[in-house]
Amino acid sequence: MRVAIIGTGYVGLTTGVCLAFIGHEVFCLDSDQSKIDRLAAGHIPIYEPYLKELLEEARPNLTFTTSYPEAIPGADVVFIAVGTPPTLSGAPNLEFLSQAAKSIGQHIDGDFTVVVNKSTVPIGSGNWVGSLLRETCEQRQDGLCTAFAVASNPEFLREGSALHDSLYPDRIVIGADEPRALEVLYSLYRPILDQTFGAPTYLPRQESLGAVPLLSTDLASAELIKYAANAFLALKISFINEIGLVAERVGANISEVGRGIGLDSRIGPRFLSAGLGWGGSCFGKDTAALIATAGEYGIHMPIVEAAKKINARQRDRVVEKLLHELKILKGRTIGLLGLAFKPNTDDLREAPAIEIAQKLIDRGVRVKAHDPIAMERFEKEHGSIGLQMCKSALEVAEGCDALVLVTEWNEYRDLDWEVVAKKMRSPFLLDGRHALDREKVMRAGLRYASIS
Ligand code: UGA
Repeated sequence: MRVAIIGTGYVGLTTGVCLAFIGHEVFCLDSDQSKIDRLAAGHIPIYEPYLKELLEEARPNLTFTTSYPEAIPGADVVFIAVGTPPTLSGAPNLEFLSQAAKSIGQHIDGDFTVVVNKSTVPIGSGNWVGSLLRETCEQRQDGLCTAFAVASNPEFLREGSALHDSLYPDRIVIGADEPRALEVLYSLYRPILDQTFGAPTYLPRQESLGAVPLLSTDLASAELIKYAANAFLALKISFINEIGLVAERVGANISEVGRGIGLDSRIGPRFLSAGLGWGGSCFGKDTAALIATAGEYGIHMPIVEAAKKINARQRDRVVEKLLHELKILKGRTIGLLGLAFKPNTDDLREAPAIEIAQKLIDRGVRVKAHDPIAMERFEKEHGSIGLQMCKSALEVAEGCDALVLVTEWNEYRDLDWEVVAKKMRSPFLLDGRHALDREKVMRAGLRYASIS
């Protein structure tokens, strides 16, 4: 099938590369010419494992362009995957979505085109995009824009495992009010639903994976599923963090508690790791958007609001713990291990490291930091905070009064803690992710604490 994807961010690029890989002819469009030039030359603007490799394999089916007249006419499916950044009120900014819809409307022709909202968009956006398309089409003189339908196909990919989540998803959700649109998207995703494509060697298919479930529903339900899924995952994290506070006071081990409740199949083991709380571009934005949408209907969402409050509190607890341990923060040197909001990405949006670094610097601390991938980006986007970047975790440890594990990169799990302890002025380690082996760290001569 012929596919156009508007927006080459995380979602758009991953979707485009995966659809091209399974055999569709894909046009990836972005208004940023320099980004398109770099992509055409094989440079990936984000850090995402195996994206470069998969792009090379899919290249014969991929075209990168800034031109709507090149990408849209004749397309069977057009995905809108533009950014919807949060505004001050919490409601997402839909400017890019509106521009994309209008530009698509100016160039649709062909038998039947399904225009799909892939970005996370507020409930009702499907209808809104439909009305923008109709309005633009009506203004055209050529009479070619006759047959199209709008659908919602929310994505559930996680940064850092975006390709795995796209090729081997837990489910595919498609919302449309017209049956023909559902049929087109069913054909598009068939190789993924039936798992008939040849798996890349570096992204093998798990043997236990059967057919991928497809949920086809109406537009509004598909839109709400995306927000509800993210809010629920955010809630799970905040729940375990709230329990963690109690665990700490009563002397219980929160990792064991998480494992113990997660083994109940009604609860499930994932997203029950306590620690610094969630970051990233999605949970904060989507919970805020859900609260904003509910507000428009006069509905309060105390559970989702509480999840957000608990998440904010986890960041403060780092400073409280350090204060408790070191008594005085002014004049201390504290090292951060990890800056990205989670491992395997260089994304810093709502990364706990930013807030923690700022809070410490405001209290007169000298802050050193290391991250295997995200340092350059941190300097570019948050250089004004004034962190001292180090080439390695050991360089961070040099002369520190405390180290904080902020992002659980694998390389930090295997550090030689005896060497780390010797380099520090006072060997105290705060494990913000429950990622390290407490006994091992303590045997190496460090004092250990965690954020439960
Ligand atoms: C999230 C969802 O997991 C995806 O399904 C969704 O498609 C995506 O948002 C989106 O809306 O685009 P992502 O933000 O990439 O994906 O990252 P996650 O892996 O979900 O992690 C989010 C945050 O939660 C991270 O900061 C992570 O460290 C934290 N987390 C996760 C915990 O603190 N504890 C856990 O047990 C799990």
